[in-house]
Amino acid sequence: MKARTEKLLATVLLGLTVSTSSMAAEPVTPKLTDKLSQLLQKEMRAVQGGMASIHSAMVMGQHESVAENAQQIHDSFILQQELTEQDRKDLMSAVPKGFIKLDKEFHKLAAALAEAGVNENTKKQRHLYDEMTRTCIECHGKYVSDRFPAVNPGKN
Ligand code: HEC
Repeated sequence: MKARTEKLLATVLLGLTVSTSSMAAEPVTPKLTDKLSQLLQKEMRAVQGGMASIHSAMVMGQHESVAENAQQIHDSFILQQELTEQDRKDLMSAVPKGFIKLDKEFHKLAAALAEAGVNENTKKQRHLYDEMTRTCIECHGKYVSDRFPAVNPGKN
């Protein structure tokens, strides 16, 4: 009985390893220059703070604050600011197209969330907040698997 349980556990664990390794793309973090890595981490911490503020504002119906914080996340787009031409080239050669696509999608959703704030549409805010969270998880699960090995994006 014990042996059977152990065997079952081993199969489950093996299955987990196989499925996560096939989902995670190669992490981008080791390929980033120090400057890019620092900028990205700074942006991510700002995004994290913004998302927390949006969550509180959303559940209390503080639409203006939702709009402001979402707009700030949108504007933090590192591809558009603080990057020299060389940084831009470094970034493009460090990350795959899928990463850029997710980053664009993420910032587009932030703009839509800002609009839902302006329109005082709580239902839409909730939906867009959830969509943004999906992109955090997808990007971290796929491209930051070295730092966040436990994130499991699963199927969309
Ligand atoms: C397109 C990819 C992408 C998206 C989308 C994304 N992240 Fe990240 N995130 C990264 C990368 C890459 C790192 C690791 C940067 C490094 O260590 O060089 C990171 C790191 C972080 C960190 C750790 C920062 C630190 O101090 O090291 C936090 C917190 C974070 N992300 C929050 C979020 C949240 C919250 C969202 C969604 C609302 C999000 N991220 C969406 C790519 C992404």
